[in-house]
Amino acid sequence: MKTISLDISYEEYSSIEEMDPRDQDLVREAIEAQKGSYAPYSGFNVGAAVLLEDGTVVRGSNQENAAYPSSLCAERTAMFAASANHPGVPMEALAIVGGFGHQIAPTPCAPCGACRQVMAEYQTLGGKPLRIIMFGTHKAWVFSRVEDILPFIFDSFNEK
Ligand code: THU
Repeated sequence: MKTISLDISYEEYSSIEEMDPRDQDLVREAIEAQKGSYAPYSGFNVGAAVLLEDGTVVRGSNQENAAYPSSLCAERTAMFAASANHPGVPMEALAIVGGFGHQIAPTPCAPCGACRQVMAEYQTLGGKPLRIIMFGTHKAWVFSRVEDILPFIFDSFNEK
């Protein structure tokens, strides 16, 4: 038996101005996306924006339903829209913001496990790292690839 530890590194910022200008732009897109959030049941509004390799930005927001499981998170709404409308164009970055009452929370909005799995799929499909930006007004985190937020990824290679 041996104990193995993982070493994951990520960047932490304390204001949007400190961030890479391209990341700032994508965060602003996610903030715009949050305006489309329909979340009358949880009251928690999430916005996401995906940057594609060709420079296209696709926005998404969480969409809830009276039948709760029929709802969809902002990140998957954005990624599915990106893949459906721009098939085969690799995804380079994804920014996420969230907060109650259409506010942006001070702490970063971290994606759920199901959304991380979908990120993994599109990163593999695109063949390049997918940068994840979790934004909060007082703290933001930037991860350079999906493995850093989803270790031991299940992908189709696991099935072979
Ligand atoms: N939500 C997202 O849109 N993204 C996440 O990463 C976490 C949660 C949504 C789902 C639901 O509409 C609301 O936030 C509360 O969970």
